[in-house]
Amino acid sequence: LRVLLAGLSAGLALLASQMVWAQQPIVIKFSHVVAANTPKGKAADFFAAKAAELTGGRVKVEVYPNSTLYKDKEEIEALQLGSVQMLAPSLSKFGPLGVKEFEAFDLPFIFDGVDDLRKVTNGPLGKQLFDKLQPKGILGLAYWDNGFKSFSANKPIRTPADLKGLKMRIQSSDVLKTQMRELGALPQVMAFGETYQALQTGVVDGTENPHSNLYTQKMHEVQKYVTVTDHGYLGYAVIVNKKFWEGLPPDVRKSLEEAMAQATRYANQIAQVENDNALEAVKKSGKTTVYVPTKEERAAFKKVLVGVHKKMEARVGKETIEAIYKATG
Ligand code: LMR
Repeated sequence: LRVLLAGLSAGLALLASQMVWAQQPIVIKFSHVVAANTPKGKAADFFAAKAAELTGGRVKVEVYPNSTLYKDKEEIEALQLGSVQMLAPSLSKFGPLGVKEFEAFDLPFIFDGVDDLRKVTNGPLGKQLFDKLQPKGILGLAYWDNGFKSFSANKPIRTPADLKGLKMRIQSSDVLKTQMRELGALPQVMAFGETYQALQTGVVDGTENPHSNLYTQKMHEVQKYVTVTDHGYLGYAVIVNKKFWEGLPPDVRKSLEEAMAQATRYANQIAQVENDNALEAVKKSGKTTVYVPTKEERAAFKKVLVGVHKKMEARVGKETIEAIYKATG
């Protein structure tokens, strides 16, 4: 009888522990550097809600916006170590990881619009680039839009020459470094979370960003002039820790894939509107003069910057650039 009772209680204990286990949700920490009310911030929150819904609460996505958990440089390391499970860094931030090909997305004037961009991310190159992340212990799940960038500074920027000698904050991309040098500017790599202060204190003179980033970080309050050059694209790769993702129960992973597909549609639907609204808000603030260059003025920027493509062949791969040309026709 004693043996029977001991067996029974051991069985009950095991059952109880399994029940507790079943109640513990799987936590996904999703860290990012922008404000919650940006295209990326909203899409991350959308994904969190969808993930909870589609997994019936088995997954809890905790979103940490605004560099509260990690800044640019640390977050990818944290993902590799498994301290966070999901990120969406801009495509300009994979160089330090050793996957330089993503910097091809930074090439100035390489995309005529978001349709061009989509042809690349939805095509074979989009997949090939994700494959390059796997040996780093990272899986690419989706591409999310932000939008095209404007230059900002405390002096009007009408011509490429206006950027000469300006210290310009950039993301950690050699292509962006070369782009700024081509304009005679002095590029300074800096974490996104440090940019506002650097602009405010004059450590740098200007920067480039889509309007949603400019506005939500209040950069327009410390930048008197914004020029809508649309000279380059800024978007994101949603990435996960490979081991974590592949270790998920298959049914959970399937639901998360569906949540991600929906979040991606949402992200790419709202990005343009969010940026348009942000530009309106910047104008309304009265703190910044927004200038939209004429066709000729924009062409002058293109003329100076298009040479960056050739110069960056060794960095991002000639075949990468050619694949983009081919995809975009
Ligand atoms: C930047 O550093 O300017 C951007 O990559 C920030 C972001 O995530 O949009």
